[in-house]
Amino acid sequence: MANKLLITDTILRDAHQSQAATRMRLEDMLPACKILDQIGYWSLECWGGATFDSCMRFLNEDPWERLRRLKQAMPNTKLQMLFRGQNILGYKHYADDVVEEFVRLSIKNGISVIRIFDALNDTRNLKTAIESTKKYKGICEAAISYTISPVHDEQYFVDLAIRLCEMGADTICIKDMANLLLPSAAYSLVKKLKAAVNVPIHLHTHNTTGTGDMTNLMAVNAGVDIVDCALSPLANGTSQPATEALVAALRGTSRDTELNLEKMSEAAAHFRKVAQKLQDEGILDPKVLRVDTNTLLYQVPGGMLSNLISQLKQAKAEDKYYDVLKEIPRVREDFGYPPLVTPTSQIVGSQAVLNVLSGERYKMVTKESKGLLKGEYGALPGKVNEEVRRKAIGQDEVIECRPADLLEPELDKYRTEGGNLIKSEEDVLSYALFPQVASKFLESRNNPTKKEEKTDENGVRVLYVDDASQS
Ligand code: CO
Repeated sequence: MANKLLITDTILRDAHQSQAATRMRLEDMLPACKILDQIGYWSLECWGGATFDSCMRFLNEDPWERLRRLKQAMPNTKLQMLFRGQNILGYKHYADDVVEEFVRLSIKNGISVIRIFDALNDTRNLKTAIESTKKYKGICEAAISYTISPVHDEQYFVDLAIRLCEMGADTICIKDMANLLLPSAAYSLVKKLKAAVNVPIHLHTHNTTGTGDMTNLMAVNAGVDIVDCALSPLANGTSQPATEALVAALRGTSRDTELNLEKMSEAAAHFRKVAQKLQDEGILDPKVLRVDTNTLLYQVPGGMLSNLISQLKQAKAEDKYYDVLKEIPRVREDFGYPPLVTPTSQIVGSQAVLNVLSGERYKMVTKESKGLLKGEYGALPGKVNEEVRRKAIGQDEVIECRPADLLEPELDKYRTEGGNLIKSEEDVLSYALFPQVASKFLESRNNPTKKEEKTDENGVRVLYVDDASQS
């Protein structure tokens, strides 16, 4: 019986996204790639999520070039990316032709495994990405956005997994972005999923609440096939539990990973230096390593908290922190219990801040909250508070169809708009996802002598990039 536990290491993506605002550079990765490639991971998560935006916005790196260089440096290991369904790597819905083209070029440039999720678990938002991944021969990992609410019980997740398999998923991921999945719940859910579907089950959790290692171990005992971990220098806290610890814990057991700890230690020696540098630069705040019990109390993802603090600081209202913390679950209930993950975590968080600061709930409503209540992001899982909805969107009609069905093909439009900035098919997509950020980036890449000041144009209403709860 092939029973060994498989490991995905997130050191090149979620680990630094969760702990260091996605600021690890390609030059910090490359020296360790040779050794990473020899460890024998099931996959290495290294692209997608917030890395794409961060590359262009903060690091002056071409995300596509990063992917090609990583593949070149790690020819023997499957590279994995995180893909936000119809939102791709952005924060809104894109037309189907953009989604398909993005999948095609991701695979062409080196990605093997595409983990696809939707914040609302609306499978209509996963359809194009799943079909495209199959079409271009990638491994399609469909993810369940895990959350806790009166409408999200085990049966809900089992039914969702069955549906995702019918749609073509090669593996199913339990995506627990906030470390809300507690050890015994993990055991039970994995058992039920293993009984319900025939594809491998992959667990993704964090160690925000300090339960990550226990959750992983209980899932392993329940028969989970693949687990996400991060090499120790950027593990734990808001990141994944440490790879070495799980590998050592399973040594000599029936789930032995058979991975080489000596090689891991060699790779870790490199990333310790990188982590130290990020800390020296003030990007990695050691606070992210603390066990965060507020998440257990309020079920607010750990990473959302740092985002809230920065929004409240901007508004000089840091004393309202606990009021906002209490308001978040109320907004979430009004909105029909969306799981809190990009982009819904930012939408709910920002609305809660406004509700508290304006002194009256929903006196001010963000554009994104209106979109969510209008159905622009898909179907909300539970019943929406109709009074709140009317206050937010007036008599506007609520969208019932698959939101992307309302979008005309967009690729040609972006290609034309990008004009001379665009030098490749990949550039069209960089531009399509982040027109302003990509324009600045492509301009400076195409004219390397002209140095442009990089500014952040998107820090105002809904904060995205400096948010460890991002996915
Ligand atoms: Co994550």
